Amino acid sequence: MLIKNAVLVNEGRRIEADVLIRGERIERIAPQIAAPSNVEVIDAKGLLLLPGLIDDQVHFREPGLTAKGDLASESAAAVAGGITSFMDMPNVNPQTITRAALAAKYELARGRAFANYAFYMGTTNDNLAELEALQKGEACAIKIFMGASTGNMLVDNPETLDKIFARAPVMIVTHCEDTPMIKLAEDAAREKYGEDVPFAEHPHIRSAAVCYKSTELAVGLAKKHGTRLHVLHLTSASELPFFAPGPAATKQISVEACVHHLYFDESRYADLGSWLKCNPAVKSAADRSALVAAVRDGVIDIIATDHAPHTRAEKAQSYFKAPSGLPLVQHSLLALLDLEARGELSLETIVQRACHAPAQRFGVRERGFLREGYFADLVLVDPTAGTLVTPESLRYKCGWSPFEGHRFKARVEATWVNGALAYRNGELTPQAYGQRLAFA
Ligand code: DOR
Repeated sequence: MLIKNAVLVNEGRRIEADVLIRGERIERIAPQIAAPSNVEVIDAKGLLLLPGLIDDQVHFREPGLTAKGDLASESAAAVAGGITSFMDMPNVNPQTITRAALAAKYELARGRAFANYAFYMGTTNDNLAELEALQKGEACAIKIFMGASTGNMLVDNPETLDKIFARAPVMIVTHCEDTPMIKLAEDAAREKYGEDVPFAEHPHIRSAAVCYKSTELAVGLAKKHGTRLHVLHLTSASELPFFAPGPAATKQISVEACVHHLYFDESRYADLGSWLKCNPAVKSAADRSALVAAVRDGVIDIIATDHAPHTRAEKAQSYFKAPSGLPLVQHSLLALLDLEARGELSLETIVQRACHAPAQRFGVRERGFLREGYFADLVLVDPTAGTLVTPESLRYKCGWSPFEGHRFKARVEATWVNGALAYRNGELTPQAYGQRLAFA
C-alpha cells in the first residue's frame, strides 16, 4: 500500500512525503514514490500521518473482569483512536502476579488483540521471588500500586518496597498515592457528608499532598537503589520538582501524564461527577496547566491514558461505592489534538510523548517512529474534519465515555497495525492484527 502526500509528523519535524508499506513494515519514505504495480494507493493530501500511539497504561480487564471490558473490545476501541500498541495492567482476576499468570495473559491476547500488546507483572507484599525470576521481555515492567486503587494490590510494607526497588530485574512503574492519608480524608468526608460525598470532594480526599508523599517515597527508593523508575499518571504541580527535563531514552527516573489529567480540571466534577472519578484524581486548573507545561518542557516524558472502564451501573453509585476510572483509548489522540488546536501542545510534542518516548523508555523494538524498516503502525488524521462523540460511536464494552456530546476538532481517518489497514472511515477490519511487543 502506498500512502501519498500526507504530512508526516515524526522526530520533531513535519514533512510532506509518501510512505510505501510492504508486508508488516515501512519499506520506503520519500518525497515522491511512484506506485509499483498491484499496490493500493491512498491519497492523503491535507491529512497528517503519525506513528501509532503506544499507550503504556491501560486496564483492559481480562481475565476475570470482562463485564467491564476485554482484550478484544478495548483494543478495537484503541485502534479506532489511533493507538497501535498497549501495555496492560495486572489488577485483573486472577491478578497478574506470577510468571504463569503473565504467560496465560499473553495466550489470551494471541489472535484477539487488535493492537500490539505487552503485560505488566504486578506486585504484592509477598511475590518477590516471582519478580526476581522475571526474564527480560516477559513483562514490559513491574507495576507497584503504592496507593490502594481498583483491585486490592496495595504494597505498603516498607521492607518489601525497599527489597522490590533493590532487586527488580526490569523497570518499575508506580501508582503513587499515600493510603493512610486517603483513609483519614475519607473518614473526615464521611463525617461531614455521610455516604453521599459530593464527587467534587475527590481531589481533596485524594489530594496533591497524598500524591506528593508517595511520589517522594518512590523517587527516594529509586535514587537509593539506582532503580529504573517510571512514575505513572502525575496529577499535581507540587510533584513536578521531583523530575527533570531531558531525553526519555536515557533517564533513570521518568514520569507520565494521562490525557484526562491534561484535558479536564476539577470544574468538570459539576457536570461529570462520578464519570470523572479516577485515581489519582483530576485536580485544579492550576495543576492541569502545570502538567501541560511540563509535557511541553520535557519534564513529563510520556502521555498515556490509564484507560479504566467500569460498567454504567457501577459508576452510577454514590461516592464510596462508585469505582474509580474512565474509558479513554478511543479519544486520547483526539483530546490531545484538541489541546493542539488550542495552542497548548504542538503536534511534534504530542508525537514525541505519546509515540516515540514510550518506545524509547520501555525499549519497544522497531515501533513508535516513522522509519524505514520499522513496523508500519500508523495513524492518519484529518485535523479539521471533526468527531462528534455519540453513544453509538463508542466501541467500549462499558458503553459510555466522559466525552459524550463533545465534538473533537480532528478525526481519525485510518489506522494501520503491522502493515494491515485495521481501521478506516469508521470501520474496523474483523481480523485482529496485534502482535506481542518485543523489547530491546
Ligand atoms: O482510576 C483508576 N482506575 N486508577 C487506578 O489506579 C486503577 C484504575 C482501575 O483499574 O479501575
